[in-house]
Amino acid sequence: MFHPKLFENRNVVVTGAGRGIGLEVARQFLDCGAHVLVHVGRDSNRDLPDFLMEAQAERRAFLVAGDFSSGEGTRNFVSATGERFDRVDVLVNNAGTMVGRFLAGELTDDQYEKIVHLNQTSVMEVTRGLLPLLRVGGEAAIINTVSISALTGGSPGSAIYSASKAFVVTYSKALARELAPDGIRVNCVSPGTITTDFHERYSSKEKLEQTRKSIPLQRLGTAEDCAPAYLFLAAPTLSGYITGQVIEINGGQLIC
Ligand SMILES: NC(=O)c1ccc[n+]([C@@H]2O[C@H](COP(=O)([O-])OP(=O)(O)OC[C@H]3O[C@@H](n4cnc5c(N)ncnc54)[C@H](OP(=O)(O)O)[C@@H]3O)[C@@H](O)[C@H]2O)c1
Repeated sequence: MFHPKLFENRNVVVTGAGRGIGLEVARQFLDCGAHVLVHVGRDSNRDLPDFLMEAQAERRAFLVAGDFSSGEGTRNFVSATGERFDRVDVLVNNAGTMVGRFLAGELTDDQYEKIVHLNQTSVMEVTRGLLPLLRVGGEAAIINTVSISALTGGSPGSAIYSASKAFVVTYSKALARELAPDGIRVNCVSPGTITTDFHERYSSKEKLEQTRKSIPLQRLGTAEDCAPAYLFLAAPTLSGYITGQVIEINGGQLIC
């Protein structure tokens, strides 16, 4: 697909890379020669695929676990990244999840805080913490995973999650202007309905089938459909004049 040396000698950080979209993004960066710091949410290497264990043994992949529901988790992650890399060329802020479906009148303060911290505050904390390392190379890229629900509002019970993704879109656009003088480009990838563990947890089979039928391309998306957009946005040779933008990957589910 992309050239196997496209990211040779490049240091890439991917959060939420223990499964799903982030895992595939990490795999494709590794296939293109990058050194990848792979953040996983759970504190265990259990169930990680062979390619990641092999890249770890070759010292091309470095696994760091951390819970981003709190500031302590992101602070520890930033420190761990600084111990591993003296420069960051690509930061993919991808860790996130709906946490649960909570109807507006029943949402507790704790649930609200958890959704917002994971999907919104942690993006700011990790970005802020890694900025000194992102400034070193002079042509870094930040790519934030948002969601189709940032535009549509999502479905019942996902209001705070959807709003937090909209926050990240606006935050990314603002940063694109602010960080341009440092040579840092900031863009977003916005997945539609992608078949990962995410929907195993939050959507019924019937709901997914209904969604599938409504998509012009007549199928749900995959992590493999999403990952190339991250590599494209990360490579200055491919997207050096693109910043402050959102790439929507949804099979035509939303065309506007
Ligand atoms: N799937 C979709 O249809 C869809 C649509 C729009 C947007 N998205 C967004 O795409 C991103 C990836 O989602 P996915 O579909 O690949 O879901 P996924 O398979 O559930 O993966 C989510 C990733 O986020 C990590 N994570 C979850 N809670 C965390 C926490 N408290 N602290 C740190 N990390 C945590 C997970 O870590 P571990 O598994 O290692 O614990 C995992 O690596 C998310 O930001 C999601 O909101 C997904």
